[in-house]
Amino acid sequence: SNSEEQKILEAYQLLSKLYHHLLKHTKDGKKGLEYLYDRGFNEETIDKFQLGFSPYKKDFIMQFLEQKGYHRQLMIKSGFFTTNHQDRFQGRIVFPIRNITGKTIGFVGRSIDDQEPKYLNSAESPLFQKSKILYNFDQARSEIRKKSEVILTEGSADVMALAQAGFENTVASLGTSFTDTHASILRRYVDTVILCFDGDNAGQQATFKTLKILKKVGCFVKIAMLPTNYDPDQYIKEYGADSFDKHIIQTASTEMSFLMKYYKNDFDLRQEGELLRYVDKIISEIALLASPIDRDFYIRELAEQFSLSHDALTEELSRKMQFVK
Ligand code: GTP
Ligand code: MN
Ligand code: MN
Ligand code: MN
Ligand code: MN
Repeated sequence: SNSEEQKILEAYQLLSKLYHHLLKHTKDGKKGLEYLYDRGFNEETIDKFQLGFSPYKKDFIMQFLEQKGYHRQLMIKSGFFTTNHQDRFQGRIVFPIRNITGKTIGFVGRSIDDQEPKYLNSAESPLFQKSKILYNFDQARSEIRKKSEVILTEGSADVMALAQAGFENTVASLGTSFTDTHASILRRYVDTVILCFDGDNAGQQATFKTLKILKKVGCFVKIAMLPTNYDPDQYIKEYGADSFDKHIIQTASTEMSFLMKYYKNDFDLRQEGELLRYVDKIISEIALLASPIDRDFYIRELAEQFSLSHDALTEELSRKMQFVK
């Protein structure tokens, strides 16, 4: 019911403060704090993101909540605890997850030793639906609006690293695929989304899927690609914020030049038949571009890259465009 949800929300705000206190001011939390400092996060960032630590105890949180007058049954029902009613995040760094209005609606825990899995989320519930939440949206919102541009990353650690480096218009989906709902939330605030996913295969595929979803809602998309095996957090840690801005953000690719690279993975271009299928695929993508100038630009690019006739490519493009309209 509504009053139960209010109670749960209230408990979460309290827990978020408790975890943060435990991280910063207790012996238990010291290991967590050192872990974060080792990763290069400073105190201001740790406070800004209200990071916390959950002690290695099975029912520390439950006892705390009961002392504060919250009913055990209600908290169990909320999905905050594990199925056998134990503290979910024992021995983990805790990230509070807030909704657009800044209310904590769930938590994510990251292990700092070899505990598997690396990341653990609060259970899905009517209050906590990962398909609708973008991490840090509440704090990033005014910068996002001001710049009319948002940087989208894969992980909460990337969001923190970027915010610390001065890119405060950054959000992430919580380890789930980016959804239509995420896209419509962003569309309300921006024209342009900069995708900045991990520089690995999974990151490339996620970029492709996310790009397609963002196009459906009419966003303009730029793709900021990282070197192989780097993510934004690692890149900034190694090369610094200026380099990230200059070499990753400022040189972000257009959608088409990303797609032209991406589709090369699907075809063996040394074979004539495959090459022609690749070219056909790219022309289909070019046909989707709204601007005739853009279409002409990429047709020329394609003609030049494979020494094909501009006229033939244009003819095929016109044919395909009849079906687009
Ligand atoms: P760090 O290792 O702390 O730097 O995090 P990361 O964001 O770089 O992690 P990674 O690139 O491996 O994964 C991207 C995102 O996927 C994470 O931020 C999580 O949200 C999610 N994720 C990764 N591993 C797990 C896992 O074991 N379980 C769950 N549920 N989610 C995960
Ligand atoms: Mn604080
Ligand atoms: Mn990854
Ligand atoms: Mn990563
Ligand atoms: Mn990382």
